[in-house]
Amino acid sequence: MSRRYTVAIIGLGYVGLPLAVAAARHHQVIGFDIDSTRIAELREGHDRTREVEPSVLAASALELTDDHNAIRGIDIYIVTVPTPVDEQNRPDLSALIAASETVGGALAKGAIVVFESTVWPGATEEVCAPVMARASGLRAGIDFELGYSPERINPGDREHRVETITKVIAAQKPDVAATLAELYGSITSGGVFIARDIKTAEAAKVIENAQRDINIAFINEVAQIFHKLGIATHDVLAAARTKWNFLDFKPGLVGGHCIGVDPYYLAHRAVEVGHNPEIILAGRRLNDAMGGFIADALADSLGLPSERTILVLGLTFKENVPDLRNTRVVDIVTRLTERGYRVDVHDPSADPDEAARLYGLTLLRGLDGIGGYGCVIGAVAHRLYTTFETATFRRLLGPSGLVADLKGIWRGVALPPGMRRWEL
Ligand SMILES: NC(=O)c1ccc[n+]([C@@H]2O[C@H](COP(=O)([O-])OP(=O)(O)OC[C@H]3O[C@@H](n4cnc5c(N)ncnc54)[C@H](O)[C@@H]3O)[C@@H](O)[C@H]2O)c1
Repeated sequence: MSRRYTVAIIGLGYVGLPLAVAAARHHQVIGFDIDSTRIAELREGHDRTREVEPSVLAASALELTDDHNAIRGIDIYIVTVPTPVDEQNRPDLSALIAASETVGGALAKGAIVVFESTVWPGATEEVCAPVMARASGLRAGIDFELGYSPERINPGDREHRVETITKVIAAQKPDVAATLAELYGSITSGGVFIARDIKTAEAAKVIENAQRDINIAFINEVAQIFHKLGIATHDVLAAARTKWNFLDFKPGLVGGHCIGVDPYYLAHRAVEVGHNPEIILAGRRLNDAMGGFIADALADSLGLPSERTILVLGLTFKENVPDLRNTRVVDIVTRLTERGYRVDVHDPSADPDEAARLYGLTLLRGLDGIGGYGCVIGAVAHRLYTTFETATFRRLLGPSGLVADLKGIWRGVALPPGMRRWEL
């Protein structure tokens, strides 16, 4: 039996809430968030990120608070606040710094503060620790201890959960690392890996996502080349992946707040230390331009006035999640609208109010009673769209309609005669 700690989770979003619920099975956990609406919703049993089921939330011993005073004198603080980029793609550490001030104002001697937010190598010790030291009047590494444990969960993924994945952990001292190994070991069945130091664990996280970004960028680049050559990328990939060491990535949009964001954190630090991160930034540029490329290629294959109405299926940044932040589907919608098309958007997972607030888009309420589109774009592989059959396309499109299958989800579905298929 491992020891039962008091734990405060700071920031209850996609990462913090599942972690808090999992930790509350073994420890005395309080979840803190500055968003009072989020706390009120969670108290009602509603998780708008849909990562935690209402019944699980209701049965959890997790305490919830937006009150700074409620998190004083806790054994272990775990910070899971957002680390986005600004409009110029520069790291925005404001939430991380604010959370460090909050924790600094609450911690007592002997506490451990673990950061899970994705940052550049060095940020925990060089940025967060001094803020906490100032706010607390205590010394980092002497009066309170630092740790870092990158988060790997994948929204919407029911297999790789916080309770099952291997947790990388790091601290400045072996005994602190041992405490964290005990804490996280009690939460996950996937085991823990103790990294050499905090910087190493920070670096491991940021390269996991930068590596994915670069690999997808390569496939996006070859998809653009193959488009000019009249070759279907998915057919090429089907052949190439029969080689034992071929890396199996698919072309497409890279959105959300991890893969499309984290490389900028590494790039930022690289530039600070005098290195120009060529591949990392080339990957970002290529992936960010993919929506425009797709829209232009589609517009070039369309053109007839009867084909000037387009239905975009899916707006969230990935399948079966409600998260609309930093979705790159909007790039397709914007470019096609600029080019004179009327674009309707449908998404069964997105919140219509959020789509209106973030992008000024009015989502269709459903797919019944609509049809006659010149083009249907399958932009996100939501479960509903993967059930489409030949008859669905007959209903949604005009006779010579174009079916743009960006995710390759309709490859096995025959199109009605006269319709055309477009793939990456
Ligand atoms: N979402 C993912 O799949 C994922 C995966 C791995 C790592 N990460 C990283 O984890 C971190 C958190 O991401 P997320 O997706 O959970 O973010 P999120 O936006 O879903 O949630 C963050 C929560 O923190 C709260 N918050 C903001 N500032 C705060 C403060 N000063 N004090 C207390 N609470 C505050 C917000 O109100 C929000 O509820 C980021 O660094 C992200 O890069 C995310």
